[in-house]
Amino acid sequence: PTLRTAYAEDFYIGAALGWGQILEKDSAESTLIRNEFSSLTPENAMKWMHVHPKLDTFNFEYTDKLVAMADRNDQFMVGHTLIWHNQTPEWVFRDEDNDLNDSTALFGRMKDHINAIMGRYQGKIGGYDVVNEALNDDGTFRESLFYQIGGVDFIYKAFEYAAKADPEAELYYNDYSMNRPEKCDGAVQLAKAIKAKGLRIDGIGMQGHWGLERPTLEEIEASILKIGNAGLKVMITELDITVLPNPRNVEGADLSASFENNAEANPYKNGLPDSVQMALAQRYADLFELFHKHQDIITRVTLWGVHDGQSWKNNWPARGRTDYPLLFDRSLAPKPAHQAVLGVVGK
Ligand code: G3I
Repeated sequence: PTLRTAYAEDFYIGAALGWGQILEKDSAESTLIRNEFSSLTPENAMKWMHVHPKLDTFNFEYTDKLVAMADRNDQFMVGHTLIWHNQTPEWVFRDEDNDLNDSTALFGRMKDHINAIMGRYQGKIGGYDVVNEALNDDGTFRESLFYQIGGVDFIYKAFEYAAKADPEAELYYNDYSMNRPEKCDGAVQLAKAIKAKGLRIDGIGMQGHWGLERPTLEEIEASILKIGNAGLKVMITELDITVLPNPRNVEGADLSASFENNAEANPYKNGLPDSVQMALAQRYADLFELFHKHQDIITRVTLWGVHDGQSWKNNWPARGRTDYPLLFDRSLAPKPAHQAVLGVVGK
């Protein structure tokens, strides 16, 4: 079995693909991506700065290739992400004679952006992270430029434009730290407010940038249930489990420097000890046991990458580390965690 076949009855199992993984020709990696995953997400290619770098310039080269790949592989494509405060060019928030206070202009740009993307991929992209990371961890609204200029309306407008641009596509709100009760409450409230305006939202994505111990399964389960009880689908998006200590906790750490030779913050430069490898496998098994249990609420679990070598975790929150957060190793071999995830449904 592969992840894709083992979980076929439960939910989509997806991966985010980096630039180098959007492959037109067959290779060991493209075969693995086809066999193991039933859903794909662009890790970066669909973000505003890449797909829409200037007012009248769109660049669909990579998203076209990725959509064609998902089509060939019969995979559910996720559009990530339409509206996010990161990786959005400055021009979106500026005018020649007027700085940062014209919501009409901003909303017009958002509408053009959403229409162009969703119009182009109608019937090919099944769901979109319409708005990404608009909340603080305490559930209040993040003071992004979108929020400063448009207020909370920027969120309603995004969902309004998206529903019109492709009535068939699912529409999601996506955020991290959703295991925190206040943040999860904030997201559920937001979804209810969107619905109260007569607009559509289909689900909430819980990003899973987690660690070996935290958040606890109980915290994650409470959030899954809270979202499910509000009548929304849950996606576990962006799943990866770091095995490294937080470099912020290292005495005297300078986060702008490379941590390659910092033994405390980069302890597994030359390989992962068996004990940690097994702890990672157990953590993945526990998580998938929980997801499997809630397969009626969860519609997709997406890993934030295919293999350890590509993971953003190697370079965040400090550069130059060697992390092991995914299910395949740097040579594309399945890790014990992969076997452990398969074992959950094999029981
Ligand atoms: O493309 C340049 C390359 O030319 C240059 O040599 C290199 C040097 O650092 O940088 C490359 O750009 C990097 C880009 O990824 C690759 O497309 C950026 O520095 C880097 O900041 C960017 O990071 C991405 C990050 O979003 C940006 O915020 C990560 O790959 C991507 O995994 C990450 O994904 C986000 C989700 O979209 C939303 N949730 C959080 C998640 C993790 O941050």
